[in-house]
Formats: sequence, structure tokens, C-alpha cells
Amino acid sequence: MSRNQAMSRRRVLGIGGALGLLAAAGLTTGAALSRRPAVTGVQLRSGLPLPPPFTVPLPLPPVLRPVGTTDGTDRYEITQRETTLEVLPGIGTPMWTYGGVFPGPTIETRRGRPVVVTHRNELPVPTVVHLHGGRTPAAHDGYPTDLVLPAAWAALGEHAGHAGHGSAGHSSAGHSSAEQGMGDARAVVAKTQRAYEFPLDQRATMLWYHDHRMDFTGPAIWRGLAGMHFVRDDIEDAVDLPRGDHEVPLMIADRAFDAGGRLAYPALDPALLGEAGVEEAYLGGVLGDVILVNGAPWPVHEVDTGVYRLRILNASNARHYDLAAVAEDGRPLSLIQIGADQGLLAAPVRHEHLLIAPAERYDVLIDFGGMPVGSRVRLVNRLGAGRTADVLQFHLVRRGAGARIPDKLADDLPEWDRSSATVVRDLAFRAGRMRGGHGWLVDGRPFDPSRTDVTTRLGDVEVWRLIADVHHPVHLHLVGFRVLSRGGGEPLPQDAGLKDTISLRPGESAEIITRFDGYRGRYLFHCHNAEHEDMGMMANLEMV
Ligand code: C2O
Ligand code: CU
Ligand code: CU
Repeated sequence: MSRNQAMSRRRVLGIGGALGLLAAAGLTTGAALSRRPAVTGVQLRSGLPLPPPFTVPLPLPPVLRPVGTTDGTDRYEITQRETTLEVLPGIGTPMWTYGGVFPGPTIETRRGRPVVVTHRNELPVPTVVHLHGGRTPAAHDGYPTDLVLPAAWAALGEHAGHAGHGSAGHSSAGHSSAEQGMGDARAVVAKTQRAYEFPLDQRATMLWYHDHRMDFTGPAIWRGLAGMHFVRDDIEDAVDLPRGDHEVPLMIADRAFDAGGRLAYPALDPALLGEAGVEEAYLGGVLGDVILVNGAPWPVHEVDTGVYRLRILNASNARHYDLAAVAEDGRPLSLIQIGADQGLLAAPVRHEHLLIAPAERYDVLIDFGGMPVGSRVRLVNRLGAGRTADVLQFHLVRRGAGARIPDKLADDLPEWDRSSATVVRDLAFRAGRMRGGHGWLVDGRPFDPSRTDVTTRLGDVEVWRLIADVHHPVHLHLVGFRVLSRGGGEPLPQDAGLKDTISLRPGESAEIITRFDGYRGRYLFHCHNAEHEDMGMMANLEMV
């Protein structure tokens, strides 16, 4: 079914209506905004007893090995498949995985050394892989209609597939539409597998890869299609930072489970092939009541009393966190930020607590020196309530070597000047009417792959003024940007460095500046609240 058909069906069914987050509170938009809600989204409640916190050890995702190297390019292979994983202790949860694990296997790469990752799709739905934060040629950036069709569809053959695939009435319609790239004339649809080429000519940082299929990114990530990807370089190597087991990746994501241990998600079409979107109450975003770190609920991690480097990613669909590290006596430990989405800062920034929106990454040092061996430090979420106020616990099990915190980090940060900008654009991220129902719009329009929303010229510096109604973490593909201002004033301390996602808060405006360079072609910018993204809040950026 085409996007238009999906939208008109939504209207016919009367789905849409008032925004869940406003309706639930009985507020008008204006009233809701004047209250500046701390959270955008509605929490699901799990249907089974949840495990006690800080009992499951923190898992570290396996690092993927290349299957080979050709002319200096490392080749990797990942099979996307359904697997039952033990996420809650003693409970089996069917998930969609990269390579049978959640998070997917971690990919470790070096700046300027290209890699090719061949993804094979053994899932029941089409998929698209996007390397978030990657400087990737458009053909490999995971455009939402550049689908990889399931291996099973190829095996069934065209006609058998249509006849045999329909447990839900619209599945065969979704099937044939997918084979035509969702009606998008520029879509490049692959059968069964695709080799994604990543030049990785970019600053050292933490990227992540995740599904990006049009209309269904939220539920696909929720079911498990997310993994971490690191880029290293000589500049980072030259800085004296914790390494080895003193560098810890932390992918934070909330989920909810039904009584049978399956992941709960309020999709309109549970087969994720026909109608896009979520039940009306969850239009603001889907929140879970279980906080997973690297796929484990409220884990505990054994550390020494040294300095640790935490590579934090918020891979949640809609949940924001305000992270703080707290000792048993209630004393806070500083989170010393050394990097942003797109790599090291010029100098560290100390935080007592750190807001992190969906898709943002923060590179943070924490110094356990001075803490007694045997004591515990909790990483808490100051925006949470009850169980969602806890994230992770560090258990200090031995003495560690002291380390100094470097006072200078990287000197290769781009400094773009407002006066060098050739274009200033205003872009609004707001709820609105979408084909008769409610949706999430960029400048008053829902996503349409056949429309070019913004055209930029390769090499141009631009200032974008972004404005939001509720929380919208806005992400640009291809480029990193600097934050120039918030609400007409100074950026937040945590806005330092080079970003690819900026967290706009309710009613807030912000200015960002970037140079559009890298590659020509069709890219995206969008809200990274995955439900907003699936329900229209995405736009095309054409680099010419
Ligand atoms: Cu995390 Cu369009 O991406
Ligand atoms: Cu991205
Ligand atoms: Cu949004």
C-alpha cells in the first residue's frame, strides 16, 4: 500500500484524533506547552513481574570480526534474524536481531579505512540499515525506501508470496508495495541482501547502526535492530584516555514486555507490513517500564577505583534521561564530558547531571578514586519515576590506578562563523493535521519521499533555526553541526562539540550551523523520537 493509501485508511478508521499525550492529560496544546512537560510519550506497563535491580551483570556486545580484507577494505557480514533471547532472567523474548544478539555486534573501525557490511535479511519484513552519524554516500546511507526484502519472499516467488503471505489482510498489499520501494521512483530495492559501503572518512566517535524502514523504524528498533559502531583515529589515540576494560559502551534503551515475555509495542499493524503508526494514546512516543543497558535490565558492572570512559548512547525510541552518578551516601560524582555525537570536545565539560535525548551519544569520564572498595555507585535517571529512575549500578570491587583527566582534548573541531553562512533557514517541528488525522510535521508537512524539502549546495555553510512544540530530538544525516544558540541565548554546556542530534525541548528554539560537505545526493533530517519519525516528522535534504 502506498503512503497515501495508508494515510487515508488511517482516516477512514478514525485513527488519529487528538494527540495522546494531550488527550490523556485533558489539555489543549497551548496548556500542555505552557506546562513544558518533562516527558513526551506514554509509558507501557509490563505484564509480568520485573527483576530486582542490579543483579544481572552488564553484558558487553561481541565485537564483530571481518570475514576478510580486500584492497584495504574490511568486509563484514551480518544476518538479520529472529532469535529468542533471555532479556529478563529466566524469560524468553523473541527479538529481531543483527547476528542473533541484542545489541547487535559492535563494529570497530578506523578513520579513512573503508568497510563493507553485507546485511542478509532473514526477518519477516523488509529492512533498511542506516549508520547513524556516518559520513556515508547517499546510496549506502539507508534511505527509508531502499529496502532489503526478506530472503523468504524471494524463496516464495512472486505469486506464491502474494497468495501465501497473508495472515493479516493487508500483508500482501504491504508485500507488493515494498517490492516497488513503497511507490518511491528513486528507491533501490534489493532482494535478500545488500552490501553497505562506509568510507568512514570522519572524526573518531561512537556511531550506531539501526533499522530505518519507512513507517516502521520505531517498532524495528524496539524489537532489537540496533548496534554500536566505533570509529578510532590518531588524534584520539594521542589523548591519554582510559582504554581496554576501562572504556565501557552503554546502550541505554527502555522496553516493556507482555505477560508471555514478548516485547509489547502498540503498533496499529502488529505484522509491521501494512498500516504505519501506533495506537492513538502513544502518538507522543512509546516508553517502556524496563531500563535496559546493553540489553540487560538494570545491570550491575564491577569496576575498580580508577577512571572509566563511558560511551553512552540513548537508543530509546522516545525516552529522555537525565543521568547522574550517585554514591551510596548520596554524594554525586561528576560526569566529565569529553565527547559529543561527532567526537572529542576541545576540552572537558563537567556535569553533575546530563540530559540525553534519543539517538544522542555522550563520551564521559567518571573517576571512582576516593570511593571505598566494596561500595556502589548508581547511574540514575532524574527524569524517571519509580523503576525508571534507576539505570545501572557500578560495584567497586578493587583498587585501581589513579589517572589524570586531560585538560585538552582535540584541536580539530570545525569553527563555522555565522557570517560565513550563505543561507538561514527556519524549520518548525510540530504536531499537526496529516491527511485528516494527527501527525508530526516538519514545516507543516508529513514525510514524502518524492518531495525535496531542502536543497543545499556542496560546501555551503548554513544556519538552521529549529523550533519545537514538544520534545523533538532533531537529527541530520551526513553532517555534524555546532549549536549556536538556544532560546536566543547561550547553548547548554552539554551542547559543546560537534553534534548530529540536538534535543529541542518543549517550546524551545535553537540555532545550529554546519557546512554541507561530503557527498551529493538524497539525505534526510528528522525527529529521532522514533514514533514521531514514523508518523511523518522526517524530511528530504538534497545535496547538489
Ligand atoms: Cu539514527 Cu535517520 O537516524
Ligand atoms: Cu542518522
Ligand atoms: Cu519529535
